[in-house]
Amino acid sequence: MKVDVLLGLQWGDEGKGKIVDVLTPRYDIIARFQGGPNAGHTLEFEGIKHVLHTIPSGIFRENVINIVGNGVVIDPVIFQKELEKLEPFNINVKDRLLISKKAHLILPTHRLLDAASEAAKGKNKIGSTLKGIGPTYMDKTGRNGLRVGDIYTANFQEKYNALVEKHVGILKHHENFEYNLEELEKPWMEGINVLRQLTAIDSEQYINDALKNGKKILAEGAQGTMLDIDFGTYPFVTSSNTVTAGTCTGLGVAPTKIGNVIGIFKAYCTRVGSGPFPTELNDETGERIRALGHEFGATTGRPRRCGWLDIPQMKYAIMINGVTELSMMKSDVLGSFEKIKVCTHYLLNGEKIEHFPYDVVDSNLIPVFEELEGWNCDLTQLNNYSESPKALQNYVNYLEQKLEVPITVVSVGPDRKQTLDNKH
Ligand code: GDP
Ligand code: IMO
Ligand code: MG
Repeated sequence: MKVDVLLGLQWGDEGKGKIVDVLTPRYDIIARFQGGPNAGHTLEFEGIKHVLHTIPSGIFRENVINIVGNGVVIDPVIFQKELEKLEPFNINVKDRLLISKKAHLILPTHRLLDAASEAAKGKNKIGSTLKGIGPTYMDKTGRNGLRVGDIYTANFQEKYNALVEKHVGILKHHENFEYNLEELEKPWMEGINVLRQLTAIDSEQYINDALKNGKKILAEGAQGTMLDIDFGTYPFVTSSNTVTAGTCTGLGVAPTKIGNVIGIFKAYCTRVGSGPFPTELNDETGERIRALGHEFGATTGRPRRCGWLDIPQMKYAIMINGVTELSMMKSDVLGSFEKIKVCTHYLLNGEKIEHFPYDVVDSNLIPVFEELEGWNCDLTQLNNYSESPKALQNYVNYLEQKLEVPITVVSVGPDRKQTLDNKH
């Protein structure tokens, strides 16, 4: 068996949570491979909306194991809150949710360092979710981090104290940065106690054994390809590998064991936080997309920047991830637009380019658009793709031809049921 991968092709919030939930009945295991509580994955069914940050989006389906992989970073406080929100649904998390012993812990001081670093950057700030993601991954690669496996050891407190001391030393260099660590430590230690009661495993072994035994596994990505630490719009990125390769390192799966790669994208494009966004609409159209698409962050509530779909950016993401099929999300949001634009190429210093360039951060990249007919109707009640308006099907065909990958799912609303199958 191979591991299928589901990940975002844009700047995050493409609708990964919804599609993981929709696809979960086809799998035995859902495993998050990177990121942490900077993610906000929304699921909607039976009139209830759920937002998950660390817990994989397969958690609501029975008979499916959910794994938080070694590539994920965990904030015990946020994790505990997520678990509390699951309580009314009587999910047996002890059996259904497994956590890698190698996943790293976000300390209260990581969050403080994140805040201090962003404040010091002033107008050049990344627009981080301030969940401590960057500092935690820095300690991981710096070989200072604390891992889930450490919480079971006798000298955990000692290890914690040593790392905090180091952080406090760094925070001293940030003038006028005030904080009350004790206030943050109490709930953190409570969260650690909750974590201790869950099931920690050697997840790489578990996953590879499961593959051998014929189990079907879906790896769930967080953030999006353009936020990848290597391939995103650096430095305006997150601190992990959000791409398919991140599955290999974040779960311990060999590259030869990767199966289908499902790339999720919105019928338009959004970004939250700072950094380049070539097709951004700083006008009424952008505001209209934001209002119609409720484009406000699931984690921070910040308004998302909106723009048209960007073909060179999408092709870049498809290339890096080896995408084998696409899911187009939020098609309903464009339902009242007479015309829809798509960026087909850019002008860089007057020269036509069709690839996503290195100097996107500093340059004045001008997107060039092609205009297509809008479908001009409500899609949210549709049950079959074959009954969808011609203009929508034309848009899908146009994108499939440009992107050279089939669009197998067209999403027409936030609910589980508002999902159209377009299997070819
Ligand atoms: P994720 O981080 O990729 O899981 O995406 P988010 O949950 O942060 O953001 C996606 C938002 O769009 C959520 O509020 C979803 O409920 C919503 N959503 C997902 N698919 C659709 C869709 O097809 N149409 C509409 N209108 N909303 C959708
Ligand atoms: P999901 O999984 C959208 C953005 C932040 C910021 C940058 C760095 O819900 O798609 P960080 O907190 O990682 O230091 O922030 O990345 N960002 C996201 N944007 N969706 C996310 O996750 C994001 N996670 C981080 O806004 O610009
Ligand atoms: Mg999100």
